[in-house]
Amino acid sequence: MKKSLSKTVQELQPSGIREFFDLVLGMKDVISLGVGEPDFTTPWVIREAGIYALEQGFTSYTSNKGLYKLRLGISRYLNSRFNLKYNPEEEILITTGVSEAMDLALRAVVNPGDEVIIPLPCYVAYGPLTILAGGLPRYIKTQLRQGFKLKPEDLERAITKRTKAVILNYPGNPTGVSYTNKELADFKRIILKHKILCITDEIYGDLSYDFAHIPFASLSGAGQFSLYLNGFSKAYAMTGWRIGYACGCKDVISAMTKIHQYTMLCAPIMSQLAAYEALVSGKKAMDEMKREYQRRREYVYEELKRIGFEMVKPQGAFYFFISTKNTGLAGLNFARKLLKEQNVAVVPGDAFGSDYKDFVRLSYCADLDKLKEAIARIEKFLRRKQ
Ligand SMILES: Cc1ncc(COP(=O)(O)O)c(C=O)c1O
Repeated sequence: MKKSLSKTVQELQPSGIREFFDLVLGMKDVISLGVGEPDFTTPWVIREAGIYALEQGFTSYTSNKGLYKLRLGISRYLNSRFNLKYNPEEEILITTGVSEAMDLALRAVVNPGDEVIIPLPCYVAYGPLTILAGGLPRYIKTQLRQGFKLKPEDLERAITKRTKAVILNYPGNPTGVSYTNKELADFKRIILKHKILCITDEIYGDLSYDFAHIPFASLSGAGQFSLYLNGFSKAYAMTGWRIGYACGCKDVISAMTKIHQYTMLCAPIMSQLAAYEALVSGKKAMDEMKREYQRRREYVYEELKRIGFEMVKPQGAFYFFISTKNTGLAGLNFARKLLKEQNVAVVPGDAFGSDYKDFVRLSYCADLDKLKEAIARIEKFLRRKQ
């Protein structure tokens, strides 16, 4: 049977996150700081809109591009928030999550052998999606001592004649690191000079704590070279609804729509209506969740520092990427032993790039009481080990 499988797929590594989480399944009293998923339920106003959509009998397909009303809502939101202008008719596509948007983007622009630059550590999907699109991931390592930030000179050095695109994810998973206007302007200079596409995954943009989030596409002159991806999963706690969107030049969006119409057809209609409601009346609930994440971030940061972990203070999202070097354990062993001995789940760092063996990712998608208990268990684990 294996013979009938595609070579490319056989060679793909399964996600390090899922692999580790098979271990957690079935264990009792586990505090999971592993998954990158809000611990909040979708705010009631949004759920109600989903229920109402079903009550009204909205159970059909929509236009391939998504409901016009949702595209218009997104266009207005981006215009008022960031002065980003996208025509809802032809420059916005509604997808089933940012996951699909990224897949479509790569398949729409990559020719066999084209290179896609991906700064590390990164979200687990970028490399495999590039390979599935026939491209070659060209990874750039970033280090803890440089705050896990991509350096403009490293970006420029990685560009070759075959480079098609660079993927920027900020605030980032797994580090929570983000970029300022000045840093983005440095990338823009290089991207425009080499005429490559900058695909930005800004799914955590609304969860930025230290400075205002700036979409790369909003920088003057960047529009033509950018593809802006965002979605509702994280900031609105809507992971299960599966709604994302892509905004960019008409040509790229129409190429993405071509693939989407054959593979997905459209995103679920009731989810699109719920996402529309999120834009209209979900901001208050979103702000409350954001304040709570921020409170947790402060608490966890101070505690991890006190215990002696080295890390960068994340500027957004809901993760810490911490070095386990001082504990004498590699990330994978640290994660395995912590789970076995103290029932706390974190993700080994090499799930986000093979060079990050001495790290683990810890998400603070758990309430403060659970986080306090998790910190106490981590301290106990480290004391026992000595
Ligand atoms: C950086 C990043 N992009 C995309 C996704 C997937 O988002 P969606 O639920 O919209 O497919 C995740 C989920 O963890 C993520 O961390």
